[in-house]
Amino acid sequence: MAGREANAETRARFPIPTPFGAFMTRIPVTILGATGVVGQRFVRRLADHPLFEIRHLAASERSTGKRYQAACAWRLGGDPYGNLGNRVLVAGHPDTAFAPIVFSALDTEPAKVLEPAFAKAGALVFSNASAFRMAEDVPLLIPEVNPDHLGLLTVQRTKRGWKGGIVCNPNCTGTMLALALAPLHKAFGVEAVFMASLQAVSGAGYPGVPSLDILGNVVPFIRNEEPKVEEELPKLLGAFRKDAIQPAAFGISALCHRVPVIEGHTEAVSVRLKGNPSPDAVREAFATWKPEPRLPSSPEAIIRLHAEEDRPQPRLDVDADGGLSIHIGRIRPCPLLGIKFTLLGHNTERGAAAASLLNAELAVAEGLL
Ligand SMILES: NC(=O)c1ccc[n+]([C@@H]2O[C@H](COP(=O)([O-])OP(=O)(O)OC[C@H]3O[C@@H](n4cnc5c(N)ncnc54)[C@H](OP(=O)(O)O)[C@@H]3O)[C@@H](O)[C@H]2O)c1
Repeated sequence: MAGREANAETRARFPIPTPFGAFMTRIPVTILGATGVVGQRFVRRLADHPLFEIRHLAASERSTGKRYQAACAWRLGGDPYGNLGNRVLVAGHPDTAFAPIVFSALDTEPAKVLEPAFAKAGALVFSNASAFRMAEDVPLLIPEVNPDHLGLLTVQRTKRGWKGGIVCNPNCTGTMLALALAPLHKAFGVEAVFMASLQAVSGAGYPGVPSLDILGNVVPFIRNEEPKVEEELPKLLGAFRKDAIQPAAFGISALCHRVPVIEGHTEAVSVRLKGNPSPDAVREAFATWKPEPRLPSSPEAIIRLHAEEDRPQPRLDVDADGGLSIHIGRIRPCPLLGIKFTLLGHNTERGAAAASLLNAELAVAEGLL
């Protein structure tokens, strides 16, 4: 594979073992946007990871040169600052923060400039930002849904002359939806989707939505969210054909709302499936879906099915499995499209930091570093 040959030098410097468990050296990684809501989750996940070791923490000019604990307030449980509170933040540029793997929790505008700079310098960038998700040579990846789309990385490297590359994870709302639709698309074929979301405030970063706007309220607008979901889903469930993604051919309508919940996006989903299967057949398709591959951070169950009439709920369910499972309940007939159900997922874990981490684990397993 061309991508592997192009990176022989990096592989020699950082011996990457296969299969998992037999490696000698953890792979150095950089976190861009380490002070933010998603960046802190990266730090917590990577502080004690079997494959990766944090080499650089980077943020904006506002934070560069400060110690991590002085540049931001730690907002998570667990060891504060991942025990790296004394680490000095560096500028998010390849000259100051190069590592063979880069996790990006940057806002879209800086991502447009910094992510290609790292890719050109030879780093494999795993991005949460929306800047390159819809570029035709960039994999929009969920390992359980479309692992073969990682093949686009070779196309990207050839086309752009990069030794590294950019791999994106989708928008958080689209991630949960794609994970729920994947088994249905495989078992029956999806024909149409209607989704109304109830999205947590952590999805807006920090400080995010002003408390006076959101407490005791619902805001029926999240900038760019509906188009992102509507354009990313067909790419995610599309087919990798030779050197491009052929988008899945179903219609989708998304309605997105911000609600006063801290973590966890809830989605009310109606779907039309080929053959109009019963709720029991749909439940069976969810229950028997066992996607490959298994990766070091894979949860025990990708989908947790709830039988209770009032579940899933963010407060009760979203933290199960470290936020890596999605939750589905209330599977029932829909008079308009055939089937409807309630979906819940952790937006800053399954929809952000852990999503990138799983993508990086897949790339290592595939020998693409
Ligand atoms: N929150 C979610 O649920 C979620 C889910 C999926 C995807 N995402 C995406 O993930 C990314 C990060 O989101 P977030 O919620 O973590 O945002 P956030 O809390 O606002 O954090 C943004 C981070 O980017 C850094 N930054 C800003 N401007 C920069 C610049 N010019 N150069 C270098 N670094 C810069 C900030 O550093 P300073 O602290 O120094 O300003 C901070 O570390 C966004 O693209 C977002 O759309 C978020």
